Amino acid sequence: MTEHDPHHLLDTSGGLPEAIPPWPGRDKLRITAVRPIVTAPEGIPLVVVKVETSDDGLYGLGCATFTQRYAAVVAAVTEHVAPLAIGRHPVDIEDITRLVHYSSYWRGGPVLNNALSGLDQALWDIAGKRAGMPVYELIGGRSRGGVEVYTHAAGPNIDVTLEQAEQLRDAGYRNIRLQVGGKGLGTYGAPGTLNGYPRSPHPDGWDPEEYLWSVPKLFQAARERLGDDLKLMHDVHSRLTPKQAIVLARALEPYHLSFLEDVIAPELYDRLPEVRAASPVPIAVGEQLGSVTDAARLIRDGGVDLLRLHTSSVGGLTPTRKLVAMAELIGVRTAFHSPGDISPVGVAANLAVDISTPAFGFQESHEYNDATHEVFPGTPVVANGHLYPSDQPGWGVDLDEKAAARFGPTYHLFDRWVAQIRKPDGGLEAP
Ligand code: CO
Repeated sequence: MTEHDPHHLLDTSGGLPEAIPPWPGRDKLRITAVRPIVTAPEGIPLVVVKVETSDDGLYGLGCATFTQRYAAVVAAVTEHVAPLAIGRHPVDIEDITRLVHYSSYWRGGPVLNNALSGLDQALWDIAGKRAGMPVYELIGGRSRGGVEVYTHAAGPNIDVTLEQAEQLRDAGYRNIRLQVGGKGLGTYGAPGTLNGYPRSPHPDGWDPEEYLWSVPKLFQAARERLGDDLKLMHDVHSRLTPKQAIVLARALEPYHLSFLEDVIAPELYDRLPEVRAASPVPIAVGEQLGSVTDAARLIRDGGVDLLRLHTSSVGGLTPTRKLVAMAELIGVRTAFHSPGDISPVGVAANLAVDISTPAFGFQESHEYNDATHEVFPGTPVVANGHLYPSDQPGWGVDLDEKAAARFGPTYHLFDRWVAQIRKPDGGLEAP
């Protein structure tokens, strides 16, 4: 081992653990392994990090899922995160995760944040198990009885979308995001209406002008048919210009949306304060934020009403707690992201924040298939429009590695479908 070997500080023959913290007073518990596990029980690659310790049977799980680049996250965990954590006492979460964050010198971004989150969340899981408490009890306990979720109704036309919304209402959901189809590949989450989608790669193109007319019609029909007791949302999925976003937000004012999501692409987030200032509808944004610093600036600069990150995308529970405290003090609420490309461990981390913070607004929900429940015993389930966190120590979600191995990863369509999202002239559109 040479002095240029980046691992030389961790050479246990050279004196770890004395060479670097743990500081005096720590007991002999140590991190012994940090392993990424990839599984795809719904066909969507999920990355989970398992942190094992010198205490036989004491381990933690953390979500590190970045479906579109899962192999890069696996490499980051194996090559760069594990060597910095092994040998440390798992209780020093703040120091260990900051060390990992700083150690790449160039930091942030979804690959490194998810790798870091896998470690961070696993350390919180261990902390909860050591204390015999759910993680949300370690960070302040309950602020509410349950976590109100929202779910999605989407169809090729208004009738089908609203039929779905009625079924969801009858199943107990009170908060529903509505998406309606359109030309080409269609609005985000809703199919296209013409020319044999999905076989045709970009049949007619996605036309922003058609979209700006069709969405207010959807919500007018929704209020006429569903009344005013449901809370309604819509996701633009970042396809508008800042000015188009303002036009849409104003057109939607009469229908009292609880939020309008991702109106512009992340490359344009500097324009969000201007969009939000002109919007009569609450602006929800954050699932594509690349760092905790960007999220903090967005809150500080007035670019967001509902913060829509998920705890793994910004590096885990540790940075998320800081953001949520800031949001609470400034009057921003949460509407955390939780689609099928977050593992149930990540859902439990979202829920720990949701249940404990006074800044809670909404929580997105996804109903996992049976295979996911088999791979992840303890996966949270929606009951009567709510999610309830587990009362088990840690996250309360486990991983059956044998079951996980039956669902190997394949590259998911998620990183290919963007090729189909094009304007009528064939130009690429934001997904
Ligand atoms: Co979204």
